[in-house]
Amino acid sequence: MDIPHPAPHLAALDEEDMQQASPAWQAEIDGITTTVCASIDAATTLASLRTAEISAVGRKGQVTELRKRIGSLPKTERRAFGQAVNAAVGRVKTAINARHESLKQALIDAELGDDSFDETMPAQPVNGGTYHPLTLVQRELEDVFASMGYHVMDFPEVDSEFYNFEGLNIPGWHPARDMQDTFWLDDGHLLRTHTSTGQVRAMHLFKPPFRAVFPGKVYRYEATDASHEHTFHQVEGLMVAKHVSVAHLLDSMRTLLSAIFGRDVQVRLRPGYFPFVEPGFELDISCQVCGGPGCAVCKKSGWVELLPCGLVHPNVLRAGGLDPDEWQGWAFGLGLSRLVMMRYAISDIRLLLGGDVRFLEQFERGV
Ligand code: PHE
Repeated sequence: MDIPHPAPHLAALDEEDMQQASPAWQAEIDGITTTVCASIDAATTLASLRTAEISAVGRKGQVTELRKRIGSLPKTERRAFGQAVNAAVGRVKTAINARHESLKQALIDAELGDDSFDETMPAQPVNGGTYHPLTLVQRELEDVFASMGYHVMDFPEVDSEFYNFEGLNIPGWHPARDMQDTFWLDDGHLLRTHTSTGQVRAMHLFKPPFRAVFPGKVYRYEATDASHEHTFHQVEGLMVAKHVSVAHLLDSMRTLLSAIFGRDVQVRLRPGYFPFVEPGFELDISCQVCGGPGCAVCKKSGWVELLPCGLVHPNVLRAGGLDPDEWQGWAFGLGLSRLVMMRYAISDIRLLLGGDVRFLEQFERGV
């Protein structure tokens, strides 16, 4: 389709109209905007940029003030005037944003270019944090045992059924398995229910005679309450030598307890059944939280089970590749979580792994 050219007189008229549509205020707006943008571009700091911004588009800024003039204009010009002021504000804001970006970038460049700034340096801790009470007591125990010539070992938390049960004289049909149900992995491994997994492991690792302790985290399928958690800490101790008796065991336990509490603690020994010791004992200590009358931690008995122990069962020695006619041993499984509770008079085991900072920050400061 042919588009007709405009008639020459119409074109001339258009040009005239455009000239008329550029009234005096347009030049004024342009002038103010140009000056304001120049002062924005000239700002050398974020603070001076902010000052330029306020004097341009702040409440009483030069560009803002222009709006007030709209009332004095003939009605036919008001719309165009408003649009022109809006366009000016847009130009000013674009200039402000551009300047802001470049000033910020300059600051970053200056900082990175400065050799004294090393962005790979580790951050300084603001608050050094505190050691967990379990860590504090575990380290103390490790020192006590190391000073008595024990190896301190770290064994896996995920272990095989053999090290957790079978090797400890607990075959699949044994009712003791019910008392220590745990979390099983699809491949047949499990989260260890006790640090006793280290007994046969240690026998496989060391040539007897030896003595070792192995602290660590253990897991049970457990209904939780003030004294039971599904995840808790133990320290296992094992000694294998030629002639080991209950007398050795008791003496070691006493040394251990007096080192931990730094004073005499009342203890009592009861027969206890564990398939991997024979004879087996429960060593209880008087409740250090309530001091005797009974509380939630000692289940109102005044005594806390702390140290199950006994002489290593011949089947366990066999599983460890040792001849029970030649070697004997004793073992204990100290409840580290319980011990920590006694030591600091903590009345609920769930506080230990609860992650409450108000609880944790009461202990010794770390670095
Ligand atoms: N492993 C046992 C438990 O967790 C404790 C124990 C260790 C008992 C060593 C006797 C000897 O209950």
